[in-house]
Amino acid sequence: LDNGLLKTPPMGWMAWERFRCDIDCANDPENCIREDLFRNMADRLVEDGWKELGYEYVIIDDCWMSRLRDKQGRLQPDPIRFPGGIAKLAKYMHDRGLKLGIYADMGTYTCMHYPGTTLDKIELDAQTFANWSVDYLKFDGCYSNPVEQMLGYPLMSKALNATGRPIAYSCSWPAYLGGLPPNVNYTLLGDICHLWRNYDDIQDSWDSMQGIVDWYFNNQDDLQPAAGPGRWNDPDMLIIGNFGLSMDQARSQMALWAIMAAPLIMSNDLRKLDNGARAILQNKVAIAINQDSMGIQGRRLLQAYDVFSGSTVKGLNATTEFTVSINPSGVVMWYLYQSD
Ligand code: GLA
Ligand code: GLA
Repeated sequence: LDNGLLKTPPMGWMAWERFRCDIDCANDPENCIREDLFRNMADRLVEDGWKELGYEYVIIDDCWMSRLRDKQGRLQPDPIRFPGGIAKLAKYMHDRGLKLGIYADMGTYTCMHYPGTTLDKIELDAQTFANWSVDYLKFDGCYSNPVEQMLGYPLMSKALNATGRPIAYSCSWPAYLGGLPPNVNYTLLGDICHLWRNYDDIQDSWDSMQGIVDWYFNNQDDLQPAAGPGRWNDPDMLIIGNFGLSMDQARSQMALWAIMAAPLIMSNDLRKLDNGARAILQNKVAIAINQDSMGIQGRRLLQAYDVFSGSTVKGLNATTEFTVSINPSGVVMWYLYQSD
């Protein structure tokens, strides 16, 4: 959706992969889905150097809602876990130069069975999010059929637009249709959404990550042309800093997500990140490659910069052959540029 938002892939943090639907604040206060968790992550983004690198969205996922809509039919947050309400949480983000994202579901229920946004509720929910000063909506697709989705995803785009508030719009629609033409119309998606989940949820493992990467590259003829400023394929969250990837594998995810122009949306515990994971996620060249919408086509190759080791190889030209050694499931990532 080319309305000026997300000219480059969004960057930020999202709760789901790491914190799931943990609502047990009595026994697990550190990790449960409540406003403190999002404030903690916002503090880390601001104080630990993330924000100035571009990581700006703090995105609430499923399980933030009360089980019931309010008397006027509006969605409302769980009153125990979000006592301040969403508007106040949005202000917390905005006061720190960050943005707040939220989650809803095109259907009868969210995937974790909280109130869904049926067709008749789309305008109301869009207006509610705008009233709260939300900046980003992840619109999931559990508990709806393809006909409802065909109506609902464009309708939500219109409804967000009609609020007058610039809200980034992430559509899970294609993931519910197998992710490929002819079931998925990427021209339409690019017109109505800023980004979209095409495929399976990422889990905290190399197998999961590799399955996703294989699928994206196997289907790149269909997927790659769909992406561009304001319209991004979303292979799902960065799991770097969790338990499932080695350092080499973490570098691989960062390199591949950078190359794919994927959203750089981490789902990890920023309060407990080790230095290795932090260095990978904060790698400026990898981020610049991800955020560079100009590409490097047609340039002559004079130098290659090893993104993760920081060493520069000089004097290459377009036909130079060179050898690199790559660890098992590791990556070597080169940034090619012309020196003056
Ligand atoms: C789906 C989505 C996930 C997450 C969960 C929440 O599985 O694909 O990213 O939002 O729902 O229930
Ligand atoms: C419009 C609005 C936002 C944005 C989209 C609508 O321009 O500014 O609501 O999300 O476009 O989907």
